[in-house]
Amino acid sequence: MNLLKPHPELYNVAWTTEQFNGMPYRLLGKSGLKVSNVGLGTWKFGYPDTGDGSRVDEKTAFEIFDKAVELGVTHWDTANRYNNASGNSERIIGRWLRKNPDQRRNIVLATKIFGGMDGTTPNHSRLSRGNILDSVYASLQRLQLDYVDILYFHSFDPITPIEESLESVEDLVKRDLVRYFAVSNFSVKQLNLFRSIEKSKSLRTRILAVQNQFDLLNGESEQHSGVLQYCAQNGMSFIAWSPLARGLLTERYLDPSRAGKGDRLFDEGTLERDTGKELMKKLHKLAALSKELGISISQLSLAYMLTLPGMGPVIPSSSTVDQLKSNAEAGKIVLNEKQRERIKQALT
Ligand SMILES: NC(=O)c1ccc[n+]([C@@H]2O[C@H](COP(=O)([O-])OP(=O)(O)OC[C@H]3O[C@@H](n4cnc5c(N)ncnc54)[C@H](OP(=O)(O)O)[C@@H]3O)[C@@H](O)[C@H]2O)c1
Repeated sequence: MNLLKPHPELYNVAWTTEQFNGMPYRLLGKSGLKVSNVGLGTWKFGYPDTGDGSRVDEKTAFEIFDKAVELGVTHWDTANRYNNASGNSERIIGRWLRKNPDQRRNIVLATKIFGGMDGTTPNHSRLSRGNILDSVYASLQRLQLDYVDILYFHSFDPITPIEESLESVEDLVKRDLVRYFAVSNFSVKQLNLFRSIEKSKSLRTRILAVQNQFDLLNGESEQHSGVLQYCAQNGMSFIAWSPLARGLLTERYLDPSRAGKGDRLFDEGTLERDTGKELMKKLHKLAALSKELGISISQLSLAYMLTLPGMGPVIPSSSTVDQLKSNAEAGKIVLNEKQRERIKQALT
């Protein structure tokens, strides 16, 4: 078999092609785009002093970006609205790329558009032609880039005709302002709707990936259930957002009463809600298993997720360089069948 041209049936498995700086890569959907098994979520990167609600300042973000390249963590995920619609996550990435122009081609950068950013009229949000174009121009400006690798629709828009939205993305792709297209927070029904219009309009730009909520303790959200399986069956990559349940899938919350300031679930006021009895039982089972395997809970979680059919790269966010190093390791861990089965059992 030619390793660079996999058979179509192999698209449905998380097919690893090559590696960079020791990090294995996998294909995104039915495309030639290769992304690092472990990527980097940058939702909480911003300018905390400005009150934008971020957790990671520019200095730490730059250290994380430097280390990320060194570790082959080259798929970076952001959105225009992260941190109170400030654009600051994109802005920080842009400032780092400006300092490191030779790294541009190493990074596969994804951003998202949908919500209002720069105004409050009804035309400043959603997926109309105007808002799509203006949002992408503004993102490119903040990112200091000529193109983004992946553009996501951050949410489904029940108002704008889908043809209008998809044709606008196709135009952006033709102008090389956007290279690939994906969607986020979509249900199976919404995906089917989009894909039928892609087909009937003979659009060349197709949805390659779906970014929805998923982690080992909570699974998919009820509203978007079945999308992981849908991705596996249709050759699309599922990209889980909050894959570590915002930090719960680590050793930090095994005793929730010890969590405090500096721990995200505590800082965001969701500690009690997120540490229910049933979830904690499963977390402790995962803790015992990970201890036995000599890896951390987060590494076990990410490595296991990477084995699920349809799963694309994982994009945990890292608040420190040490977290990044630990998360990056997960991209190289190969769990055997018996270990995978035991993890599955622990989660039932
Ligand atoms: N499409 C969407 O609607 C959507 C929604 C949410 C997120 N996302 C994307 O998904 C990315 C990841 O999600 P997320 O940031 O919500 O949460 P996450 O990746 O599930 O968890 C990240 C948090 O876990 C802690 N952590 C990470 N690695 C750790 C390690 N090795 N050891 C100990 N603690 C660790 C950190 O908490 P502390 O800060 O407390 O240290 C960090 O903030 C986002 O950055 C964003 O790019 C997309």
